[in-house]
Amino acid sequence: MASAAVEVIGVVGGGQMGSGIAQLAAVAGFDVWLHDTEPSALQRAQKSIVDSIRRLVSKGQISQFAGTSSLNRLRYTSNLEDLRTSDVIIEAIVESEVVKKKLFSELDKIVKESTILASNTSSISITRLASSTSRPSKVVGMHFMNPPPIMKLVEIVRGADTSDEVFMTIKTLAERLGKTVICSQDFPGFIVNRILMPMINEAFYALYTGVATKEDIDTGMKLGTNHPMGPLRLADFIGLDVCLSILKVLYEGLGDSKYSPCPLLVRYVDAGRLGRKRGIGVYNYQ
Ligand code: CAA
Ligand code: NAD
Repeated sequence: MASAAVEVIGVVGGGQMGSGIAQLAAVAGFDVWLHDTEPSALQRAQKSIVDSIRRLVSKGQISQFAGTSSLNRLRYTSNLEDLRTSDVIIEAIVESEVVKKKLFSELDKIVKESTILASNTSSISITRLASSTSRPSKVVGMHFMNPPPIMKLVEIVRGADTSDEVFMTIKTLAERLGKTVICSQDFPGFIVNRILMPMINEAFYALYTGVATKEDIDTGMKLGTNHPMGPLRLADFIGLDVCLSILKVLYEGLGDSKYSPCPLLVRYVDAGRLGRKRGIGVYNYQ
């Protein structure tokens, strides 16, 4: 499919990433379907998108007309079949290979033959996700950074069978969304999380072994290396469940103990302390 032919985008998963991607695509002029299995997640997504677009209008970053048209281009649904007319689907559900494969196999049966299935996975093999479909050449990684409307990068991941045409369509789409593109081969964690997650894990080990307080670890990295937020606060921002899932993929996929998730991170996730989205993680946001 020529990139110019992309008109309708389906986003699956209306959590922090999916809602941000849907907003970005609608503001860029695409018709967007946003699907989540949880009606409450769809309601939260809609509220966050409406608030965010209103802020863009009130700050003068887009016109009132553009804001209203963007909101009108967005449709919310708990019925996956509504996404059947999409030219590109961007999947942003839970970071689990089993759950993602099940979804890819369902989508494969629902959408048009020409539809590209892109995954926003942080770490999972695109080649293996593609193997659950009948269209491996049309499966690709399209990894946005959090928050998607703000962060300038999209990491495109080529599976073993991703075609050049699909890669170019997704690259052009990312550029139409205002992003700079990097390309990664299909290795666990790709480029960004291969490097970011060991730093976050090390910050947990520093806290776990009593090197310093959480505040001093974060201030050290924020002011000492000019990061916008310290690694523990960033882990809360990403979601501790997401960080743990990524570290497990790195550990299992690369077979090196340096990726072994810190027991403190595991304990927080076991306790339901998933970070900012749950109101508590390393820090308390309530
Ligand atoms: N959606 C839309 N806009 C948002 C937003 C969101 N979720 N969050 C913040 N913004 C906007 C604000 O409206 C504000 O806009 P203006 O400057 O026009 O007023 C701007 O971003 C700055 O926000 P704040 O003043 O509230 O806060 P801040 O200056 O601390 O910036 C931040 C917030 C952009 C998140 C910044 O702290 C930051 O860059 N943090 C690091 C983020 C990061 O590293 N992300 C990558 C994580 S790794 C990843 O995503 C990959 C993975 O697979 C895990
Ligand atoms: P989240 O927990 O905020 O949202 C996930 C959403 O998916 C939830 O609303 C859930 O109801 C929905 N969902 C789960 N299973 C579903 C299914 N089968 N069908 C439809 N909806 C389903 O998660 P998130 O942080 O938005 O992460 C989503 C994806 O994006 C993950 O693959 C994650 O690794 C990746 N990612 C996350 C970040 C981050 O910083 N959080 C950054 C880049 C990529």
